Amino acid sequence: MSFFRRREAPKVDLNRLPRHVAIIMDGNGRWAKSRGLPRRAGHAAGAETFRTIATFAKELGLEYLTVYAFSTENWKRPADEVEAIMKLLEKYLHEAIETMARDKVKMAFFGDLSLLPAHLQALCRKTQEISKGYDGCQVNICLNYGGRDELLRAAKAFAMDCVEGRADPGHLTQKAFGDYLYSAGVPDPDLIIRPSGEVRVSNFLLWQCAYAEFYFTDVLWPDFSKEELLRALAAYQGRSRRYGGV
Ligand code: FPP
Repeated sequence: MSFFRRREAPKVDLNRLPRHVAIIMDGNGRWAKSRGLPRRAGHAAGAETFRTIATFAKELGLEYLTVYAFSTENWKRPADEVEAIMKLLEKYLHEAIETMARDKVKMAFFGDLSLLPAHLQALCRKTQEISKGYDGCQVNICLNYGGRDELLRAAKAFAMDCVEGRADPGHLTQKAFGDYLYSAGVPDPDLIIRPSGEVRVSNFLLWQCAYAEFYFTDVLWPDFSKEELLRALAAYQGRSRRYGGV
């Protein structure tokens, strides 16, 4: 950003918020590198940003917030980095279990949790179970998630239902197929935010992003602030959504 360009406070109409915002939390590694810190420090800072943004999303009145925390491809990273991310998730879930009753936040997980460490799987199950009692803002954490993997699993599950006589391929609708996805019951994201200057979708919510508005910013995820979220929401409100119509 030019030093001389004045950044005006974003104007957001709270009556026209998107129902569902999804975020690719990118740039933790570069944030750490620019400070001479190990990558895990970037993820720790990213986890703090997630906390701030999730709390703010709830205060604003967003119904759904979905974040990409760990992809099916992230296992290729060095073991110590994977371990650091799992530890951050564990810490966050422990805290969430303590505060959910007060904050009335619901949590759900998108992804194949069976490959996660057993104690983390148990924590995910517990948070999901407690969430059933609340109906506040729902935070979906994508863990060992990949859009193609999700679609393949859905196709397999649907094929099994056909083979076993529970479903009929001739009657499959988009809505019925959506019910085979991790996101069953959750409306598609209206707005997908990707910080860190990368302009790609990276296997995130491939089915669900069909009519999402995208917002890209150079800001690295650990530096993403409440004001940045407001900026993204203001940009969203300036868009004209036509869903293929006129
Ligand atoms: C992408 O940045 C970030 C990740 C793969 C991990 C995201 C994890 C967290 C924010 C912490 C745990 C999450 C929660 C919900 C508590 P990158 O490492 O690819 O960054 P780079 O592109 O700059 O290298």
